[in-house]
Amino acid sequence: MTFLDKCTLLSCRLFSIFCTRKKFSCISVINFHMDSRNETKSTMEITNVPPIISIYRHALRTFDDKFNSEFTTNLNKLKYLMDMLRADDLGFDDGLSEPTLWRKPNKAPCTYIEVFQNSDINMSIFVLKPGFKMPLHDHPHMHGLLKVIVGAVKIRSFSEYPLKDAVNELDFAVRARHEAARLAQGIHRRRRLFAKVSHNRICRANTETCTLTPTVSNYHEIEALDMPAAFFDILSPPYDTLIKDIGPRRCRYYNVANEVSANVVELQEMDVPKCFYCDQAPYLGPILG
Ligand SMILES: [Fe+2]
Repeated sequence: MTFLDKCTLLSCRLFSIFCTRKKFSCISVINFHMDSRNETKSTMEITNVPPIISIYRHALRTFDDKFNSEFTTNLNKLKYLMDMLRADDLGFDDGLSEPTLWRKPNKAPCTYIEVFQNSDINMSIFVLKPGFKMPLHDHPHMHGLLKVIVGAVKIRSFSEYPLKDAVNELDFAVRARHEAARLAQGIHRRRRLFAKVSHNRICRANTETCTLTPTVSNYHEIEALDMPAAFFDILSPPYDTLIKDIGPRRCRYYNVANEVSANVVELQEMDVPKCFYCDQAPYLGPILG
């Protein structure tokens, strides 16, 4: 064997050892990853949290003043969690989506299911009779998220003029004092305002969550199409909580007094329409709290 042959043989052996070790180390890495995945999976299985409980916990955090600095991030995450919510996750009673139920003569056109309420948030489900329109109403200084879980609804939302992305605290304080003084004097003149259509679309169970803020899409009407429809919503703060310097947070109803243009209307406050009343059903989903 020549010197050159010996060198070639040695190189081959070294290469073979390198490949074997490399293969072993690859297998080790794969095994490590597999173990890691299995570990993650088993952790997820152990801590598998029902979607509505994740939403409930995250909603509490989102609307807790202690976490105000992370509000926008938390609100986006809450919307993302709600995007995936399905009727089954709420223990929704399929009987409520049977058209025959809604043909009964004494059946209210709307069924309300309270999921959870405290002083910061209200979580509920509304079920609407086919063709029924929840009248145009507002959500004074509130945030809201709405997810259709059964059927389809047409939602028309409005933003009040002048259009703003967020409440200016100074403006709000001035308006609050003015409103409080007006109410204290016993002047109950109804509100009249200009508003722009911000959304006008059909939402179904696979449509993403609709949102409203104190200034954007704060007014809306919701109409079920030709089948019963249901939606889950979160409002914060809830109706009837106190608005500082004004009083209880009331829901006000409106009609369109003037169509100024295709996208701009004049709204006039009115009494609660007599056609709008709800019966109640129990929440049958996972226990919250
Ligand atoms: Fe609403």
